[in-house]
Parts: sequence; C-alpha cells; structure tokens
Amino acid sequence: MPAITLIGPGAIGGMVAARLCQNPRNEVTVVTRTPFSSLSLDTPDGLLEVDPRIVTHPGEAGPADWVLVATKAYDSASAAQWFESLLGEETTVAVLQNGVNHVDRFSEWLPRERILPVIVDCPTERVAPGQIRQRGELFLTVPASDLASEFEKLFADTGVIYKQTDYFMSVAWLKLCIFAAGVVNALVLQPARIANDEKAAEVMRRIVDEAAAVGRAEGASLAQDIADEVIEIYRGQPADSVNSLLADRAAGRPMEIDLRNGVIVELGRKHGIATPFNEMAVSLLKIT
Ligand SMILES: NC(=O)c1ccc[n+]([C@@H]2O[C@H](COP(=O)([O-])OP(=O)(O)OC[C@H]3O[C@@H](n4cnc5c(N)ncnc54)[C@H](OP(=O)(O)O)[C@@H]3O)[C@@H](O)[C@H]2O)c1
Repeated sequence: MPAITLIGPGAIGGMVAARLCQNPRNEVTVVTRTPFSSLSLDTPDGLLEVDPRIVTHPGEAGPADWVLVATKAYDSASAAQWFESLLGEETTVAVLQNGVNHVDRFSEWLPRERILPVIVDCPTERVAPGQIRQRGELFLTVPASDLASEFEKLFADTGVIYKQTDYFMSVAWLKLCIFAAGVVNALVLQPARIANDEKAAEVMRRIVDEAAAVGRAEGASLAQDIADEVIEIYRGQPADSVNSLLADRAAGRPMEIDLRNGVIVELGRKHGIATPFNEMAVSLLKIT
C-alpha cells in the first residue's frame, strides 16, 4: 500500500488528495497549515467526501513513499520544511505547481532524479478549508519515465486523466506562454476581455514572443505564431474570466509572478535574450 503525503490541500492539493482517496490501495495523509477535519470535493459528477489522515505538525507525520507538493510556488521553501519528517531514502517528491522549473525549485532539498514535475490542468477553487470545487476534468501531465508509470498507478480508479509525454518541456512552456500574457490582466485589473483591445493585445504578443524565445532556447518546441494563438485563446474566453494572478492581486494576496514572468526574465538572462516587456511587468507588479 503506497504511503502518500500531500503538502498544501488548497484548490489543487485538496482535489488531488480527494481523488487519491478514491483508490483503496492508497494510504493518504494530508499535511495542512489550516486545520480541517475531513475533505469534500464538489465535482461535476457529484459530491465526493473522504477522510484522509490530516496532520498539522511535522512530529505527527512519518516517511512516505510519495510526497506531493501542491502549495503555491512562493511557498515551496515553507513546504520543504516538512521534508525532514516526510522523506526517506526512496521517497519521490511530485511537484504539482505551475511553471517550467519544478525540478530546480526543489533540487536543493533532494536529488533531481527523485523529483517528478507535474502539470495540473483543471479549473478548481477552495471554497473553505477542506472544501474544494472541481469545475472540469482533471488532467495530470508528466514527463514519460518509469517513475511516471509508478506515479500513474496511484491514480487508478480515480477518474483522473493522466498523460505521459516525451515533450514535457514544450507542454510546460506552451502553458507558460499562455499564462505569461495574463500579467497584462493583473496590471490593468481587467478580465479576459482586455485582449480585445488592440493595444493591450500588442503588449500581450510581445510578452509571449519573449517567453517563446526563451522557451526555445531552453529546448521547447513552440509555433512561430504562438503569440497570435495566445491572443485568440484569451479572446475565446468568457469576457469576465479572471486569471489567478489578477484574482490574487485584486484580493491583496501574494502572487506567483516569479513562477510566471519572473522565470522568463531569469532564463532570458541566462541565454542572453532580452525580455524587456516581461521585466517591466514583473517590476510593476512587485511595486504595486
Ligand atoms: N487553482 C487552479 O485552478 C490551478 C490550476 C492549475 C494549476 N494550479 C497551480 O497549482 C498550484 C497550487 O495552486 P492552488 O490554486 O491550489 O493554491 P491554493 O488554493 O492557495 O492552495 C495552496 C495550499 O497550500 C497550503 N500551504 C502553503 N504553505 C504550506 C505549508 N508550508 N504547509 C502546508 N500547507 C501549506 C495553503 O495553506 P493555507 O490554507 O494555510 O493558506 C493552501 O492550502 C499553483 O502553482 C497554481 O498555479 C492551480
């Protein structure tokens, strides 16, 4: 019976933990900062109520076969404070966060080969501690490997759509290109409809072109007209659709700006690629 411990049962972590509980072969523990007594997941197919073991102090948790980190990226260091009690010699850490540098984010705490990056696609929100609303199908995408096949077994009988890919870097950078453009929404405090404004769309295109140039230098394969594709994606969204960066800024919460546009600037410097639009967006968001 694989022992699985998930750190960070917010929108994504709570949903994934509830899904893992559907597989009776899993022994699921949830590590939380904000206590709650049971987990409920409101899904398009009905309510799922489960009872994973819930711990709030490192002393209560022992080593696991799998540790899943589902905090926001800016909480990675605080999540890693749990590792001393959770990691054994063989533990694998799956990183369920957005972005392109999942392995780098955690490599100071364990060997890179024991870190599995996971891209999560599913619109989800936390209604209250332990209460999650899943608004669509849950897709997990991981780089194809033996480790990925072991991880896949945890999701048997859970309804999760699990994809292994040989093109993980390209998938991750495509998602980052889409998200990078969303910084414009956060800067001007406007939902998706802002992409219909030609001046805003032009800034979004420049942000995406910079991201794509850096992504290609990293090894991702991205279409030459990706910026236009991204604009069409934004224009195809409901006009009042709000991305998480905008939602976080509007609510005065911390933002995952380093994971989105910050990493484009950082990796751009590494490759000698200028990223002035992303750099300005990061600077402006950090002072507002
Ligand atoms: N939400 C989505 O639709 C969605 C979709 C795809 C990908 N993602 C990505 O998934 C990742 C997680 O996002 P989210 O929306 O699930 O965030 P979230 O709802 O804010 O959940 C993060 C959770 O981590 C917890 N946490 C933070 N530090 C912790 C620590 N040291 N120990 C234990 N728990 C800790 C928080 O606890 P508190 O309750 O105490 O704050 C919270 O429950 C992000 O990288 C995001 O970009 C999100």
